[in-house]
Amino acid sequence: MTDGIEKYIRIDMSRFGAYSACKSPDVIARKLGIPEDEIIKLDANENPYGCSPKVRSALEKYPYFHIYPDSAQTELLEGISKYVRLGKEYIVAGNGSDELIDLLLRLLVSPGEEVITTVPTFDMYRFCTQVCCGKVVEVIRRKDFGVDVRAIKAAITPKTRLIFITNPNNPTGTVTPEKDILELVETGLPLVVDEAYYEFCGQTAASLVPKFTNLIVLRTFSKWAGLAGLRVGYGIFPPDIAQILMKIKPPYSVNLAASVAVRESLKDRAYLLGTVAKMKEERIRLFEMLKGVDYLKPVPSQANFILCEVVKGKASDIQDDLEKQGILVRHYNNPLLKNYIRISVGKPQHTDRIIKALKEIGEKING
Ligand SMILES: Cc1ncc(COP(=O)(O)O)c(C=O)c1O
Repeated sequence: MTDGIEKYIRIDMSRFGAYSACKSPDVIARKLGIPEDEIIKLDANENPYGCSPKVRSALEKYPYFHIYPDSAQTELLEGISKYVRLGKEYIVAGNGSDELIDLLLRLLVSPGEEVITTVPTFDMYRFCTQVCCGKVVEVIRRKDFGVDVRAIKAAITPKTRLIFITNPNNPTGTVTPEKDILELVETGLPLVVDEAYYEFCGQTAASLVPKFTNLIVLRTFSKWAGLAGLRVGYGIFPPDIAQILMKIKPPYSVNLAASVAVRESLKDRAYLLGTVAKMKEERIRLFEMLKGVDYLKPVPSQANFILCEVVKGKASDIQDDLEKQGILVRHYNNPLLKNYIRISVGKPQHTDRIIKALKEIGEKING
Protein backbone atom coordinates (compact mmCIF):
# COMPACT_ATOMS: atom_id res chain seq x y z
CA MET A 1 0.00 0.00 0.00
CA THR A 2 2.74 2.50 0.90
CA ASP A 3 4.85 1.69 -2.19
CA GLY A 4 2.49 3.28 -4.70
CA ILE A 5 1.04 6.76 -4.92
CA GLU A 6 -1.39 5.87 -2.12
CA LYS A 7 1.15 7.19 0.39
CA TYR A 8 0.66 10.68 -1.05
CA ILE A 9 -3.11 10.66 -0.47
CA ARG A 10 -4.32 12.90 2.37
CA ILE A 11 -5.01 10.67 5.38
CA ASP A 12 -8.42 12.28 5.94
CA MET A 13 -9.36 11.54 2.30
CA SER A 14 -8.55 7.84 2.53
CA ARG A 15 -11.05 7.63 5.43
CA PHE A 16 -13.59 9.93 3.79
CA GLY A 17 -17.33 9.28 4.29
CA ALA A 18 -18.83 9.40 0.77
CA TYR A 19 -22.13 11.13 -0.02
CA SER A 20 -24.80 8.50 -0.42
CA ALA A 21 -26.20 9.31 -3.89
CA CYS A 22 -29.46 7.91 -5.28
CA LYS A 23 -29.43 4.83 -7.49
CA SER A 24 -29.69 5.23 -11.24
CA PRO A 25 -33.02 3.96 -12.65
CA ASP A 26 -31.29 2.26 -15.62
CA VAL A 27 -29.18 0.20 -13.21
CA ILE A 28 -32.26 -0.93 -11.25
CA ALA A 29 -34.22 -1.60 -14.45
CA ARG A 30 -31.41 -3.82 -15.73
CA LYS A 31 -31.25 -5.63 -12.37
CA LEU A 32 -35.00 -6.27 -12.39
CA GLY A 33 -35.15 -7.01 -16.11
CA ILE A 34 -37.87 -4.41 -16.74
CA PRO A 35 -37.94 -1.34 -19.04
CA GLU A 36 -36.49 1.84 -17.48
CA ASP A 37 -39.75 3.74 -17.96
CA GLU A 38 -41.50 1.31 -15.62
CA ILE A 39 -39.32 2.40 -12.69
CA ILE A 40 -41.17 4.68 -10.27
CA LYS A 41 -38.47 6.99 -9.02
CA LEU A 42 -39.44 8.56 -5.71
CA ASP A 43 -35.98 8.71 -4.13
CA ALA A 44 -34.37 11.97 -5.25
CA ASN A 45 -37.12 14.63 -5.30
CA GLU A 46 -37.06 15.13 -9.06
CA ASN A 47 -39.96 16.50 -11.13
CA PRO A 48 -41.82 13.41 -12.46
CA TYR A 49 -43.35 15.52 -15.28
CA GLY A 50 -39.85 16.12 -16.67
CA CYS A 51 -38.49 19.30 -18.16
CA SER A 52 -40.43 21.75 -20.31
CA PRO A 53 -41.10 20.44 -23.86
CA LYS A 54 -39.53 23.74 -25.04
CA VAL A 55 -36.22 22.61 -23.51
CA ARG A 56 -36.24 19.44 -25.61
CA SER A 57 -36.92 21.19 -28.89
CA ALA A 58 -34.41 24.00 -28.20
CA LEU A 59 -31.68 21.46 -27.40
CA GLU A 60 -32.42 19.55 -30.57
CA LYS A 61 -32.00 22.68 -32.68
CA TYR A 62 -29.09 24.29 -30.83
CA PRO A 63 -26.17 24.70 -33.26
CA TYR A 64 -23.19 25.60 -31.02
CA PHE A 65 -22.38 22.62 -28.79
CA HIS A 66 -18.84 22.62 -30.23
CA ILE A 67 -18.16 26.06 -28.70
CA TYR A 68 -17.25 26.66 -25.03
CA PRO A 69 -19.94 28.30 -22.92
CA ASP A 70 -19.75 31.97 -21.86
CA SER A 71 -17.71 31.87 -18.64
CA ALA A 72 -19.26 35.19 -17.55
CA GLN A 73 -22.72 33.51 -17.73
CA THR A 74 -24.10 36.71 -19.30
CA GLU A 75 -27.40 35.45 -20.75
CA LEU A 76 -27.90 32.92 -17.98
CA LEU A 77 -27.56 35.55 -15.26
CA GLU A 78 -29.87 37.95 -17.11
CA GLY A 79 -32.59 35.30 -17.17
CA ILE A 80 -32.16 34.28 -13.53
CA SER A 81 -31.94 37.92 -12.48
CA LYS A 82 -35.41 38.58 -13.97
CA TYR A 83 -36.78 35.44 -12.27
CA VAL A 84 -35.51 36.44 -8.81
CA ARG A 85 -36.11 40.18 -9.38
CA LEU A 86 -32.61 41.17 -8.32
CA GLY A 87 -29.69 42.60 -10.30
CA LYS A 88 -27.32 40.13 -11.93
CA GLU A 89 -24.46 41.36 -9.74
CA TYR A 90 -26.10 39.26 -6.98
CA ILE A 91 -26.15 36.00 -8.93
CA VAL A 92 -23.72 33.20 -9.76
CA ALA A 93 -24.77 29.96 -11.46
CA GLY A 94 -23.10 26.63 -10.88
CA ASN A 95 -23.02 22.99 -11.92
CA GLY A 96 -25.97 22.28 -9.65
CA SER A 97 -26.25 24.13 -6.35
CA ASP A 98 -23.86 21.42 -5.15
CA GLU A 99 -21.06 23.26 -6.93
CA LEU A 100 -21.97 26.53 -5.22
CA ILE A 101 -21.91 24.84 -1.80
CA ASP A 102 -18.45 23.51 -2.66
CA LEU A 103 -17.19 26.89 -3.91
CA LEU A 104 -18.51 28.73 -0.87
CA LEU A 105 -16.75 26.36 1.48
CA ARG A 106 -13.51 26.68 -0.46
CA LEU A 107 -13.89 30.44 -0.26
CA LEU A 108 -14.68 30.69 3.43
CA VAL A 109 -13.29 27.67 5.27
CA SER A 110 -9.63 26.94 6.03
CA PRO A 111 -8.48 23.70 7.70
CA GLY A 112 -9.77 23.42 11.27
CA GLU A 113 -12.43 26.13 10.88
CA GLU A 114 -16.06 25.36 11.68
CA VAL A 115 -19.31 25.12 9.76
CA ILE A 116 -22.64 24.84 11.59
CA THR A 117 -25.31 22.58 10.12
CA THR A 118 -28.73 21.81 11.57
CA VAL A 119 -29.18 18.07 11.45
CA PRO A 120 -30.82 15.96 10.17
CA THR A 121 -30.23 17.80 6.92
CA PHE A 122 -28.74 17.62 3.42
CA ASP A 123 -25.43 15.81 3.68
CA MET A 124 -23.48 17.81 1.07
CA TYR A 125 -22.70 20.52 3.66
CA ARG A 126 -20.83 17.91 5.72
CA PHE A 127 -19.22 16.42 2.63
CA CYS A 128 -17.90 19.72 1.23
CA THR A 129 -16.74 20.97 4.65
CA GLN A 130 -14.71 17.83 5.19
CA VAL A 131 -13.18 18.06 1.70
CA CYS A 132 -11.86 21.49 2.85
CA CYS A 133 -10.53 19.97 6.12
CA GLY A 134 -13.12 22.01 8.00
CA LYS A 135 -14.99 20.82 11.07
CA VAL A 136 -18.73 20.23 10.92
CA VAL A 137 -20.56 21.38 14.04
CA GLU A 138 -23.94 19.65 14.06
CA VAL A 139 -26.76 21.36 15.91
CA ILE A 140 -29.61 18.93 16.40
CA ARG A 141 -33.06 20.09 15.32
CA ARG A 142 -35.93 19.98 17.79
CA LYS A 143 -38.20 16.95 18.03
CA ASP A 144 -40.55 18.50 15.45
CA PHE A 145 -37.47 19.04 13.21
CA GLY A 146 -37.65 22.80 13.67
CA VAL A 147 -34.39 24.74 13.89
CA ASP A 148 -33.18 25.52 17.41
CA VAL A 149 -31.88 29.08 17.01
CA ARG A 150 -30.68 29.30 20.59
CA ALA A 151 -28.62 26.13 20.21
CA ILE A 152 -27.13 27.42 16.95
CA LYS A 153 -26.07 30.65 18.61
CA ALA A 154 -24.58 28.68 21.51
CA ALA A 155 -22.56 26.58 19.03
CA ILE A 156 -20.84 29.65 17.52
CA THR A 157 -17.13 29.92 18.35
CA PRO A 158 -14.36 32.20 17.05
CA LYS A 159 -13.69 29.49 14.46
CA THR A 160 -17.22 29.49 12.98
CA ARG A 161 -17.17 30.52 9.32
CA LEU A 162 -20.60 29.61 8.00
CA ILE A 163 -24.11 28.53 9.08
CA PHE A 164 -26.37 26.45 6.81
CA ILE A 165 -30.16 26.50 7.03
CA THR A 166 -32.11 24.45 4.49
CA ASN A 167 -35.55 25.89 3.83
CA PRO A 168 -37.62 23.75 3.46
CA ASN A 169 -35.26 21.23 4.98
CA ASN A 170 -34.26 17.99 3.26
CA PRO A 171 -35.16 15.30 4.34
CA THR A 172 -37.74 16.59 6.85
CA GLY A 173 -39.72 19.04 4.65
CA THR A 174 -39.99 21.47 7.57
CA VAL A 175 -39.69 25.25 7.26
CA THR A 176 -37.68 27.77 9.30
CA PRO A 177 -39.68 30.99 9.89
CA GLU A 178 -38.26 34.29 8.61
CA LYS A 179 -37.86 35.66 12.13
CA ASP A 180 -35.40 32.84 12.92
CA ILE A 181 -33.47 33.53 9.73
CA LEU A 182 -33.27 37.22 10.64
CA GLU A 183 -32.05 36.34 14.13
CA LEU A 184 -29.28 34.23 12.61
CA VAL A 185 -28.32 36.92 10.07
CA GLU A 186 -27.84 39.25 12.99
CA THR A 187 -24.97 37.07 14.25
CA GLY A 188 -22.98 38.66 11.41
CA LEU A 189 -21.68 35.26 10.29
CA PRO A 190 -22.17 34.15 6.69
CA LEU A 191 -25.59 32.48 6.61
CA VAL A 192 -26.63 30.23 3.74
CA VAL A 193 -30.35 29.64 3.27
CA ASP A 194 -30.59 26.71 0.87
CA GLU A 195 -33.90 27.06 -0.97
CA ALA A 196 -33.59 24.07 -3.30
CA TYR A 197 -37.34 23.42 -2.76
CA TYR A 198 -38.49 27.07 -2.79
CA GLU A 199 -41.04 26.65 -5.58
CA PHE A 200 -42.90 23.98 -3.57
CA CYS A 201 -43.12 26.21 -0.51
CA GLY A 202 -43.19 29.86 -1.60
CA GLN A 203 -41.26 31.28 1.35
CA THR A 204 -37.98 32.93 0.41
CA ALA A 205 -35.21 35.03 1.90
CA ALA A 206 -34.11 36.23 -1.59
CA SER A 207 -35.44 39.77 -1.17
CA LEU A 208 -33.50 40.10 2.10
CA VAL A 209 -30.10 39.50 0.45
CA PRO A 210 -29.57 43.17 -0.60
CA LYS A 211 -30.29 44.29 2.98
CA PHE A 212 -27.38 42.38 4.54
CA THR A 213 -23.73 41.69 3.77
CA ASN A 214 -23.76 38.12 5.12
CA LEU A 215 -26.91 36.47 3.72
CA ILE A 216 -26.74 33.98 0.84
CA VAL A 217 -29.65 32.12 -0.81
CA LEU A 218 -29.08 29.00 -2.91
CA ARG A 219 -31.58 27.70 -5.45
CA THR A 220 -31.65 25.04 -8.16
CA PHE A 221 -33.33 24.12 -11.45
CA SER A 222 -33.05 20.42 -10.52
CA LYS A 223 -36.34 20.12 -8.64
CA TRP A 224 -39.12 22.44 -9.89
CA ALA A 225 -37.79 22.81 -13.45
CA GLY A 226 -37.00 19.14 -14.04
CA LEU A 227 -33.35 19.74 -14.97
CA ALA A 228 -31.61 17.55 -12.35
CA GLY A 229 -29.69 15.65 -15.04
CA LEU A 230 -28.37 18.81 -16.68
CA ARG A 231 -26.92 20.15 -13.41
CA VAL A 232 -27.67 23.82 -12.93
CA GLY A 233 -28.25 25.80 -9.78
CA TYR A 234 -27.63 29.38 -8.69
CA GLY A 235 -26.95 31.45 -5.65
CA ILE A 236 -28.02 34.95 -4.66
CA PHE A 237 -25.03 36.48 -2.91
CA PRO A 238 -23.89 39.83 -1.58
CA PRO A 239 -22.28 41.33 -4.75
CA ASP A 240 -18.73 41.28 -3.28
CA ILE A 241 -18.99 37.54 -2.66
CA ALA A 242 -20.55 36.95 -6.10
CA GLN A 243 -17.61 38.74 -7.71
CA ILE A 244 -15.04 36.56 -5.96
CA LEU A 245 -17.00 33.38 -6.73
CA MET A 246 -17.00 34.33 -10.43
CA LYS A 247 -13.20 34.44 -10.17
CA ILE A 248 -12.70 31.12 -8.38
CA LYS A 249 -15.33 29.02 -10.18
CA PRO A 250 -14.20 26.69 -12.95
CA PRO A 251 -14.82 28.81 -16.07
CA TYR A 252 -17.19 26.49 -17.95
CA SER A 253 -18.90 24.55 -15.18
CA VAL A 254 -22.41 25.35 -16.41
CA ASN A 255 -22.50 23.69 -19.81
CA LEU A 256 -24.25 25.01 -22.89
CA ALA A 257 -27.07 22.47 -22.80
CA ALA A 258 -27.87 23.53 -19.23
CA SER A 259 -27.77 27.22 -20.18
CA VAL A 260 -30.14 26.68 -23.11
CA ALA A 261 -32.39 24.61 -20.84
CA VAL A 262 -32.54 27.40 -18.24
CA ARG A 263 -33.38 29.99 -20.89
CA GLU A 264 -36.27 27.87 -22.21
CA SER A 265 -37.46 26.86 -18.73
CA LEU A 266 -37.70 30.48 -17.66
CA LYS A 267 -39.67 31.27 -20.84
CA ASP A 268 -41.97 28.34 -20.08
CA ARG A 269 -42.33 29.13 -16.39
CA ALA A 270 -46.13 28.93 -16.49
CA TYR A 271 -45.97 25.31 -17.69
CA LEU A 272 -43.36 24.32 -15.11
CA LEU A 273 -45.13 26.04 -12.26
CA GLY A 274 -48.25 24.18 -13.42
CA THR A 275 -46.41 20.90 -12.77
CA VAL A 276 -45.31 22.25 -9.39
CA ALA A 277 -48.97 23.04 -8.57
CA LYS A 278 -49.94 19.46 -9.48
CA MET A 279 -47.19 18.13 -7.20
CA LYS A 280 -48.33 20.37 -4.35
CA GLU A 281 -51.84 18.96 -4.74
CA GLU A 282 -50.46 15.45 -4.89
CA ARG A 283 -48.43 16.13 -1.73
CA ILE A 284 -51.71 16.59 0.15
CA ARG A 285 -53.17 13.35 -1.27
CA LEU A 286 -49.97 11.36 -0.64
CA PHE A 287 -49.81 12.64 2.94
CA GLU A 288 -53.42 11.63 3.62
CA MET A 289 -52.87 8.19 2.12
CA LEU A 290 -49.62 7.66 4.07
CA LYS A 291 -51.56 8.44 7.25
CA GLY A 292 -53.66 5.40 6.35
CA VAL A 293 -50.63 3.08 6.32
CA ASP A 294 -50.61 1.80 9.89
CA TYR A 295 -46.84 1.36 10.28
CA LEU A 296 -45.89 4.82 8.94
CA LYS A 297 -46.01 8.24 10.60
CA PRO A 298 -45.65 10.93 7.90
CA VAL A 299 -44.15 14.32 8.78
CA PRO A 300 -46.04 17.35 7.27
CA SER A 301 -43.91 18.76 4.44
CA GLN A 302 -43.59 22.00 2.47
CA ALA A 303 -41.31 20.37 -0.13
CA ASN A 304 -41.86 17.74 -2.84
CA PHE A 305 -41.20 14.78 -0.55
CA ILE A 306 -42.58 13.34 2.67
CA LEU A 307 -40.48 11.85 5.44
CA CYS A 308 -42.14 8.98 7.32
CA GLU A 309 -41.17 7.36 10.58
CA VAL A 310 -41.44 3.58 10.33
CA VAL A 311 -43.09 2.58 13.62
CA LYS A 312 -43.28 -1.14 12.84
CA GLY A 313 -40.88 -3.08 10.61
CA LYS A 314 -37.53 -1.99 9.22
CA ALA A 315 -37.12 1.02 6.92
CA SER A 316 -34.30 -0.69 4.99
CA ASP A 317 -36.47 -3.77 4.35
CA ILE A 318 -39.32 -1.57 3.14
CA GLN A 319 -36.94 0.20 0.74
CA ASP A 320 -35.69 -3.18 -0.54
CA ASP A 321 -39.19 -4.63 -0.90
CA LEU A 322 -40.32 -1.56 -2.87
CA GLU A 323 -37.19 -1.68 -5.02
CA LYS A 324 -38.00 -5.28 -6.01
CA GLN A 325 -41.23 -3.87 -7.47
CA GLY A 326 -39.38 -1.08 -9.30
CA ILE A 327 -40.37 1.62 -6.79
CA LEU A 328 -37.44 3.65 -5.45
CA VAL A 329 -37.52 5.49 -2.11
CA ARG A 330 -34.81 6.45 0.34
CA HIS A 331 -34.39 5.07 3.83
CA TYR A 332 -32.53 6.50 6.82
CA ASN A 333 -31.22 4.68 9.84
CA ASN A 334 -28.87 6.82 11.90
CA PRO A 335 -28.92 8.20 15.43
CA LEU A 336 -30.99 11.23 14.34
CA LEU A 337 -33.34 9.46 11.97
CA LYS A 338 -33.82 5.98 13.32
CA ASN A 339 -35.94 3.97 10.93
CA TYR A 340 -37.36 6.51 8.45
CA ILE A 341 -38.19 6.50 4.76
CA ARG A 342 -38.47 9.53 2.49
CA ILE A 343 -40.88 9.39 -0.44
CA SER A 344 -40.78 11.99 -3.22
CA VAL A 345 -44.10 13.30 -4.48
CA GLY A 346 -44.82 11.78 -7.89
CA LYS A 347 -47.79 11.72 -10.24
CA PRO A 348 -51.18 10.48 -8.93
CA GLN A 349 -50.59 7.03 -10.47
CA HIS A 350 -47.26 6.82 -8.58
CA THR A 351 -49.06 7.55 -5.32
CA ASP A 352 -51.59 4.81 -6.08
CA ARG A 353 -48.84 2.30 -6.89
CA ILE A 354 -46.70 3.00 -3.82
CA ILE A 355 -49.66 3.02 -1.43
CA LYS A 356 -50.82 -0.35 -2.81
CA ALA A 357 -47.28 -1.73 -2.43
CA LEU A 358 -46.92 -0.28 1.10
CA LYS A 359 -50.23 -1.86 2.15
CA GLU A 360 -49.08 -5.25 0.83
CA ILE A 361 -45.78 -4.87 2.71
CA GLY A 362 -47.88 -4.00 5.77
CA GLU A 363 -49.64 -7.36 5.57
CA LYS A 364 -46.20 -9.00 5.78
CA ILE A 365 -45.09 -6.75 8.67
CA ASN A 366 -48.30 -7.32 10.61
CA GLY A 367 -47.97 -11.07 10.00
C1 LIG B 1 -31.32 20.92 0.16
C2 LIG B 1 -30.65 20.65 -1.13
N1 LIG B 1 -29.74 21.52 -1.58
C3 LIG B 1 -29.10 21.31 -2.73
C4 LIG B 1 -29.34 20.20 -3.49
C5 LIG B 1 -28.53 19.97 -4.72
O1 LIG B 1 -29.18 20.41 -5.84
P1 LIG B 1 -28.47 20.43 -7.24
O2 LIG B 1 -29.09 19.35 -8.03
O3 LIG B 1 -28.77 21.81 -7.77
O4 LIG B 1 -27.00 20.24 -7.05
C6 LIG B 1 -30.29 19.26 -3.08
C7 LIG B 1 -30.53 18.04 -3.85
O5 LIG B 1 -31.11 17.09 -3.44
C8 LIG B 1 -30.94 19.50 -1.85
O6 LIG B 1 -31.83 18.62 -1.37
